[in-house]
Amino acid sequence: MEVTAPKKKKTSRKAGAGPVKRVTVPLDDGWSMVTHTSSRNRSGLSDRSNNKITGEKEKRLLAASRPKSIVPGLTVQGLMEEFREFERRWRETSCKRGVEGLLKRRGFKEGDLKEAVCLGVGSFSVDWEHRGRSLWQLVLFLGVVREVSTPAIPLKLFAQEPCFNSIDKAFLRELGFAILNNDAHKHFTPTSFVYSPFLDWFILLPMLRNKDPTLFIGNEILADYSQYTHSLPVEKSIKDYNNTAKKFLRSRKAYALPSFDLHQHAMHGMMIYFKKSEGIDVEVTAIKRAQTHETVTSGTASAEPELEQQ
Ligand SMILES: C[S@@+](CC[C@H](N)C(=O)[O-])C[C@H]1O[C@@H](n2cnc3c(N)ncnc32)[C@H](O)[C@@H]1O
Repeated sequence: MEVTAPKKKKTSRKAGAGPVKRVTVPLDDGWSMVTHTSSRNRSGLSDRSNNKITGEKEKRLLAASRPKSIVPGLTVQGLMEEFREFERRWRETSCKRGVEGLLKRRGFKEGDLKEAVCLGVGSFSVDWEHRGRSLWQLVLFLGVVREVSTPAIPLKLFAQEPCFNSIDKAFLRELGFAILNNDAHKHFTPTSFVYSPFLDWFILLPMLRNKDPTLFIGNEILADYSQYTHSLPVEKSIKDYNNTAKKFLRSRKAYALPSFDLHQHAMHGMMIYFKKSEGIDVEVTAIKRAQTHETVTSGTASAEPELEQQ
């Protein structure tokens, strides 16, 4: 499942990276599935093509074409070993150091964060090219959790993803997660860390409505989604989405995730949003400028991520 980038700033895209076609498939159980024809991923935004699929036959075909088979021979234990190896490699990255530096300087106090919710990370065990992305995204999530947890208050961990199969769920439970079934928004509180690695904006924003998590990492939140209205079901108005996004941005500062060079796209384009708080914003901004050489505009996600190395 992939999404395309907003065409708002110039970046040096790789040669041969063509447009991505995404189709939104409302599923019978009320969840939304988004599938794509390309392997590229940037953010929770779609391209401008009118690619909504509404016919029952098309929905069935798409659901059937979703990769479902598990990597041959993969067990929960094997997946855990793979994940631990990813974590080992993560420890040596400048991205890890950059993220931890930002979090340290933001200075969460004991009790500021009590739960962490991971949304739309994808399957770690389905036999397709993107499971590596999902594993890296999980490594980042748990790296942040580790950094902001205190021994007295370990964060409660939640994950929600309609694509999880039994291996994914068993693996996550072993890591201490509770698996949610479409009620993740109930765990978005002022003491939450919400993580959304490229969950589509039209799924994410309704969840964020009237919610105020102290830490959010994931898709860049835009102040205006009007140019992406083609992604919405016909009965929905873009106004509500924009109001949610604007309210979210008004009380937050945004920082681009430092570049990650072990995987080309797994984290590229993600943003870190801190709730504004007297006394610490100036310091964090200074760190950000020094570390990522990007500009931050108060209350808007204006920083452009650095270009990838690979
Ligand atoms: C664009 S894909 C991103 C997947 C993965 N994070 C990546 O970057 O490759 C969006 C993911 O959101 C999941 N998703 C859809 N509806 C969701 C929901 N209500 N809650 C959580 N995840 C959802 C989809 O199954 C899909 O895996």
